[in-house]
Amino acid sequence: METRIYTINENFIDENIINSLGRSLKNGGLVAFPTETVYGLGANGLDTNSIKRIFQAKGRPSDNPLILHIDDIKSLEELCIIENELAYTLAERFWPGPLTLVLKRKDIVPDIITAGLDTVGIRMPNNNIALKLIEAAGVPIAAPSANRSGSPSPTRALHVFKDLEGRIESVIDGGETGVGLESTVLDLTQKDPIILRPGATTFEMLRELIPNLKVDQAILDLNEIPKSPGQKYKHYSPKAKLILVYGEEKDIVDFFNKQTAKDIGILASTEICKSLDVDCLELGSRSNLEEVAHNLFSNIRELDETEVKTIYCEVFNTIGIGAALMNRLKKASGGESIYV
Ligand code: TXA
Ligand code: MG
Repeated sequence: METRIYTINENFIDENIINSLGRSLKNGGLVAFPTETVYGLGANGLDTNSIKRIFQAKGRPSDNPLILHIDDIKSLEELCIIENELAYTLAERFWPGPLTLVLKRKDIVPDIITAGLDTVGIRMPNNNIALKLIEAAGVPIAAPSANRSGSPSPTRALHVFKDLEGRIESVIDGGETGVGLESTVLDLTQKDPIILRPGATTFEMLRELIPNLKVDQAILDLNEIPKSPGQKYKHYSPKAKLILVYGEEKDIVDFFNKQTAKDIGILASTEICKSLDVDCLELGSRSNLEEVAHNLFSNIRELDETEVKTIYCEVFNTIGIGAALMNRLKKASGGESIYV
């Protein structure tokens, strides 16, 4: 199969292209598209055969549920049984945006979406191309991140193309994604709402509306068993071995400066990079973790294209989006770390 790339500017969307890609989706095609978080691999979310193709294209285990993307809050009640008004409060406050709500499913949601669970994850992405595409398709769109299972989520159309060329019909190139990490997954079906995956809709933001908000302990402690099916897999892993480096700033600088071997790569903040004599891929400022999050996956992919076999990466604080950043870094490292 030939994979075609369509370049679309989010501010000047070509209706003809979007409408024809919407039709392709509705009729069983796979279309990768940008969202504000990462690129998604879309299929008709109400059609089992189309959804099966997502699992095949990604090489994704079938016990990992998919989330449905909608363009209108009204679709919520078609897909879910809402037992708690909080769902609407959160949707109105944070949608469109990087928040996936896990709710009780209705029968219209195919079993293959939920991997047999009685809940379904729903979100409304904050990207005009994504919203117009969902509208054009006229059905909810199932979309996991558009990477091959196990590799870092794509933040550029080229990442998608490299992973999925020949496996899907179309990729919409809408430029780099803003957030760079996948959405926050919040389960509203428990007594106390619980964050299953941290993202740009942060604990601090959600806590303002949910006083009894909980966080799955497995998010930052790799010894815990995650409550979300997808979180148990080794994720976001580079081909090179990633090792997290803890310590005082000056000790980290000394340690990095000793790494002169060609097959070692360094990922670090602007503050650390500027003190180094060795090559360093800059993630962004320690005082701007949004910037670090935005760059993380693309920088990991960049190092993976080189001869680097070991990547050392500085650690960051877990405030705000820092929790999501450290969650992805810990998973990518598989728990490998050193103290210097
Ligand atoms: O930002 C995002 O969420 C991106 C963009 C494309 O929207 N999508 C994404 O999808 O990251 P995916 O499939 O790569 O991750 C969805 C996560 C998985 O960890 C999955 O296990 C979890 O959400 N999930 C989905 N449905 C669930 C459910 N009913 N209960 C618990 N976890 C669920
Ligand atoms: Mg994913």
